[in-house]
Amino acid sequence: MTALNIERAVAVIGSGAMGAGIAQVAAVAGYTVRLYDTRPEAVAKAISDIAAALNKLVVKERMSAIDCAAAIARLHAAVTLPEVADAGLVVEAIVENLGAKRALFAQLEGMVGDDCILATNTSSISVTAIAAGLRLPGRVAGMHFFNPVPLMALCEVVSGLATEAGAAQTVFDTAAAWGKNPVHAKSTPGFIVNRVARPFYAEGWRLLNEQAADAATIDAVMREAGGFRMGPFELMDLIGHDVNFSVTQSVFNAYFQDPRFTPSVLQQEMVNAGFLGRKAGQGFYRYGDGAAAPQA
Ligand code: NAI
Repeated sequence: MTALNIERAVAVIGSGAMGAGIAQVAAVAGYTVRLYDTRPEAVAKAISDIAAALNKLVVKERMSAIDCAAAIARLHAAVTLPEVADAGLVVEAIVENLGAKRALFAQLEGMVGDDCILATNTSSISVTAIAAGLRLPGRVAGMHFFNPVPLMALCEVVSGLATEAGAAQTVFDTAAAWGKNPVHAKSTPGFIVNRVARPFYAEGWRLLNEQAADAATIDAVMREAGGFRMGPFELMDLIGHDVNFSVTQSVFNAYFQDPRFTPSVLQQEMVNAGFLGRKAGQGFYRYGDGAAAPQA
């Protein structure tokens, strides 16, 4: 077992849905966690959401009050990026955009020690491309969790062409130490799950465009007869339409515009409208007081 030394801090960059979940599992596993986001309010929200989630576990008697308080005390807001300099592992969970990720990793290289592993939670972008141009590309690996991170066991550990086997193994063993079921994968577009899942979403959009049935009916059929835990539209609402659309575009382009992966114009309009799903209060379904998105 070569999991990250428990004495080393874990930095989580990007404190949205995924960053908050990753920070939670790392803190519960005993690691000091530094959370950074270009929007400081996202860090504050992540820490308060994690505290609320852990307190719920205490109420349900699935966690002791002492363990809960200790895990919360291990979460630290980083106001500036250099505050993550002592990390032994950085997990990046910012916007799904190659340029943004490369710029962040280039900045991080100048701040962290040479033994720090740089992991990306990207859903679909080439790990090889994220690492290219760095001084030490061998320490970059994918650490791809699934949403919601505290509940989903799988973690894809993705090796790019330059990834050193030791770095991938440390990421793998660290994910296992965090209670996940890691699997090694090579950096191909969408890796394993997002490659296999693309046609699930794409056929859902095609059915909707052809007015075969509405979104709620398609979701119910897939859940009740198909045996899936969620139908495509409720799942995209959970993931976020902005994230899901970016992933589809990325896989489509990585496969040289293979028509099988063509993104949906309707999903693009939902992103344009801000109907991003649960996190926005509205998507295909209404959450809280938000208005539901128009159905095709
Ligand atoms: P999100 O939109 O909830 O959060 C992203 C956060 O990153 C925001 O708070 C934003 O302010 C921050 N951010 C953007 N640029 C930044 C920068 N340069 N430096 C620091 N912070 C920055 O997105 P989400 O859903 O958490 O996704 C994050 C990453 O995780 C993406 O790469 C996505 O593809 C991946 N992912 C998402 C999944 C999902 O179901 N939403 C599942 C697995 C992976």
